[in-house]
Amino acid sequence: MINRIKYLRVSLLNSCNLNCFYCRPPQQENDTYVHENFDNFKNSIKLLHTLGIEKIRFTGGEPTLYKQLPELIQFVKKTNPKIHTALTSNAILLKKKAKLLADSGLDSVNISIDTLDETRFCSVTGRNKYNDMIDGIKEAIKHIPKVKLNTVLIRGTNDDEADDLIQFANKLKVDIRFIEFMPTKLNSQNSDQYISGDEIKKSLPYTFTPASSDPSTAARYVSSPDLDIKVGFINPVSHSFCAMCNRIRLTSDGRLYGCLFSGASFNLFESLQQGYDNATREVNQLVANKTYTGCSRKSGDSAFFPSFVNMGG
Ligand code: 5AD
Repeated sequence: MINRIKYLRVSLLNSCNLNCFYCRPPQQENDTYVHENFDNFKNSIKLLHTLGIEKIRFTGGEPTLYKQLPELIQFVKKTNPKIHTALTSNAILLKKKAKLLADSGLDSVNISIDTLDETRFCSVTGRNKYNDMIDGIKEAIKHIPKVKLNTVLIRGTNDDEADDLIQFANKLKVDIRFIEFMPTKLNSQNSDQYISGDEIKKSLPYTFTPASSDPSTAARYVSSPDLDIKVGFINPVSHSFCAMCNRIRLTSDGRLYGCLFSGASFNLFESLQQGYDNATREVNQLVANKTYTGCSRKSGDSAFFPSFVNMGG
């Protein structure tokens, strides 16, 4: 079997400094614990990179809350300088941390931004931190080699802002991607909030032509003579990209998953305590059994995972 796993996503912790209503279960609002599994993460990365990992993305919760994030990025680069290091962040702490992260070897950051309206920001995130986000985005652009914006449009919440967000990204000269709102246990009752990527694209006042897209990434990009940037669409619900999947995921408590929507997993941290060879065997088994069949589209399976704050999106 040809191993296709090239991309590891690591959810460092499930704490977040925002409380977006669609991402985080209400009972989890006040995180009382933060995993600081530094050695476990290092040992896991050391093992998993031997699969041929080319890119590691740190997610959360909010990964910039993880105190040893700079050291972890340095560790990845020391293990193999060719591995692309990426972050998914809400930018709140990037005003303070972007330079240190870039100096540590961070190659790129995807910043989540759902609205440009301060009042709406407060009602979506439950926090009065709009200006911190904007400052964080600007600081990230100054220091981190590649910055992209990610927006989840939700019907009735922020679906009137697609073009404003594109114009904002265009001014900053960074690409923006629209991610379809995915069903989770938290929001599966609210499927009327979902808008397809095609519907968003059609509603926009641009003549788009397809732009180059890396076939192994989920985003399909378009460009327009009226824009200096590319606009991406990540459509996991309407156009499953499972067949192209090259990812595995590690959660903050050590569980390794082949897929967001598959229950198949084992605890890599615990397995590593039984020895490296034992853990390698279990990793190989998970990779061999990983499915590529579009399970995310089957509504019966769709609400498998509880929320993004625990899985890292
Ligand atoms: N569908 C799509 N994206 C989601 N995110 C959180 N919940 C969902 C969902 N149900 C996104 C956040 C952030 C990233 C970490 O995951 O908006 O961009």
